[in-house]
Amino acid sequence: MRVLGIESSCDETAVAIVNEKRERIVELVLSQLKEHRPFGGVVPEIAARSHLTQLDRLIGQALEQAGLAANDIDAIAATAGPGLIGGVLVGVTMGKAMALALGRPFLAINHLEGHALSARLDPGVGFPFLLLLVSGGHCQLLRVDGVGRYRRLGTTVDDAAGEAFDKGAKLLGLGYPGGPAIEQAARRAAEAGLDPKRYGLPRPMLGRPGCDFSFSGLKTALRQRAEELAVEGRLPERERDGLALALQEAIAAVLADRTANALDLVAATGGGLTALVVAGGVAANGRIRQALDEVARAKGLPLVAPPLGLCTDNAAMIAWAGIERLQSGQAHADGDGLDFAARP
Ligand code: KG4
Ligand code: ZN
Repeated sequence: MRVLGIESSCDETAVAIVNEKRERIVELVLSQLKEHRPFGGVVPEIAARSHLTQLDRLIGQALEQAGLAANDIDAIAATAGPGLIGGVLVGVTMGKAMALALGRPFLAINHLEGHALSARLDPGVGFPFLLLLVSGGHCQLLRVDGVGRYRRLGTTVDDAAGEAFDKGAKLLGLGYPGGPAIEQAARRAAEAGLDPKRYGLPRPMLGRPGCDFSFSGLKTALRQRAEELAVEGRLPERERDGLALALQEAIAAVLADRTANALDLVAATGGGLTALVVAGGVAANGRIRQALDEVARAKGLPLVAPPLGLCTDNAAMIAWAGIERLQSGQAHADGDGLDFAARP
């Protein structure tokens, strides 16, 4: 079974072809970074127009690189939400059009389900596992018992973790996207021997019962410290990097604390987990992986993170979620129907 996946819910136009043997036959990701950078964040209208311009060509390129004809594709899977609606519409409409023309099923994939199942594509974890999904738009702890069987244990009450990185970076003048910029600045600060505790950033929710997250207070505190440390209206580079390190440490500590609570909660209700899985763009962060690795080890579980290209937005995870849904009987053999509505 070969499934063509389409991802267009944010600022990556992505196409992939994956088979049921977990082979990623082709994976193409076109980042719109350059188009959005002057605005310091993703501009939905620009994103939608860019998907519209690129997607058709990218699908052609994917088929060509795979040495396949469109007819060799058994199903089309597209992200149907949640996401920026203009881009989601482009991907869904393209997917439906292909499905109709080829007489193949169309699969409407929930973007979060794509992230949730990505670690089953590579390295291939078994159910059940605890998932920490940390991206630009989401911060959730989910118990994943099977395809379509997700129990949310915790979520953010305000910003997502990636949003905290992005807004923090903007505030510190580190540019967009924020996560990698903060990680780099934090590394410089650590190498210079700066102590993150010096900045006194709060660690919202830490030590409190439950598995929810909150990051907006951290952002406010960061702004205040940046203002206090500014010299003639400018934040010295050293302090900027120090604050980036403090921010990263605070986010890592909070993620680790809430994840530990979730693991305890699952253990108290029967346990049986195969792994702690971290997915989403923020999973690219080395310090966060390290903090989560310590938590997992303490609970006797392996930490599993998909390779970086499967952590950030991509189409292979969408194609794979389509395969999993077909194989588990969660999707009708004839797909989700051409009247399936895109969701914002
Ligand atoms: O999963 P993703 O590619 O898109 C969404 O579905 O949101 O995640 C993007 C997010 C952005 O907020 C970005 O700043 C963050 O992931 N990110 C990172 C790193 N690389 C990307 N955050 C922290 N450290 C990184 N190295
Ligand atoms: Zn995502």
